[in-house]
Amino acid sequence: MQTGSILHDDVKRVEQALARLLCAEGDGETELVAAMRYATLQGGKRTRALLCLAAGALGDTPAQLLDDVGAAIEMMHACTLVHDDLPAMDNDVLRRGLPTVHVKFGEATAILVGDALQAHAFRTLASLDAPGDNRIALVRELAQAVSAEGAAGGQAVDLSLVGKQVELDRIVAMHRMKTGALVRASVRMGALCAIAEDAAHAELYYALDRYSACLGLALQVVDDILDATADSATLGKTPGKDAAAQKPTCASIMGLQEARKYALDLLRDAGEAIAPLGPRAGRLAQMLQRANAYLIKYTPCA
Ligand code: IPE
Ligand code: IPE
Ligand code: MG
Ligand code: MG
Ligand code: MG
Repeated sequence: MQTGSILHDDVKRVEQALARLLCAEGDGETELVAAMRYATLQGGKRTRALLCLAAGALGDTPAQLLDDVGAAIEMMHACTLVHDDLPAMDNDVLRRGLPTVHVKFGEATAILVGDALQAHAFRTLASLDAPGDNRIALVRELAQAVSAEGAAGGQAVDLSLVGKQVELDRIVAMHRMKTGALVRASVRMGALCAIAEDAAHAELYYALDRYSACLGLALQVVDDILDATADSATLGKTPGKDAAAQKPTCASIMGLQEARKYALDLLRDAGEAIAPLGPRAGRLAQMLQRANAYLIKYTPCA
């Protein structure tokens, strides 16, 4: 099977799981449920779910278990995007090529969509057909990833840096929180479904953490570059938002070409991190090829 078709099948499986888990109960679909489905089922690259499935492939993991964990992660990711787009945050009107949730459904509904998607994500994990210890570990991972030490904290730092001149290491630290934490959790959650995190597997988990640290940072660096260079058809978002909002980013601090090189180096380092795991990490390596191809296709090289 070709790489592309494996990823395509994985995306389909996760989207089916999302549709199943977010179906309206009873006959009527409330506006809130319609908005939740709008926020989660209309595209997106599904990177975090694919990472979960790729890490799950390190062992012999039941497919439906991984599909549901991947779907829970995508619900949480969608929550962060809906809230990120709100007027109080990035005030964005376009997401995945469509009007943002608050533009289409109103601000109050958008806030509630985020709240409810979080709850549905945790309910999905708590209801998995898996031993209690595993379910608790998965809930803990996801909660940690969006906590004040993770995405929520990173978003707070992002807002606090508006209009400021800062050193690169502060941007990197922010990116590791706002984006890297959920990427790390996506990989770890897939792995936890496949392989116990015990002394015998300490090196494997260490390699996965190095992989996700590099990849998570690279994804946000690429996002920052594209914000400055791509058009709205490519992005499915409003271009030029970071500069307009005076947000310092890797691209604004390093310059576009240096930022591009930085992202490519990070993807190479991520590959080196999982090289010792051999062929069983093949799907994780494919995710790096995908990110690399995306970077090369959409970011200009001088
Ligand atoms: C957008 O994430 C926000 C970032 C953290 C970079 P993605 O670029 O993965 O967005 P979708 O899910 O594909 O829409
Ligand atoms: C958002 O970063 C990161 C999140 C945790 C949602 P951005 O604000 O750069 O994401 P986009 O560009 O709106 O997708
Ligand atoms: Mg933002
Ligand atoms: Mg934004
Ligand atoms: Mg962005």
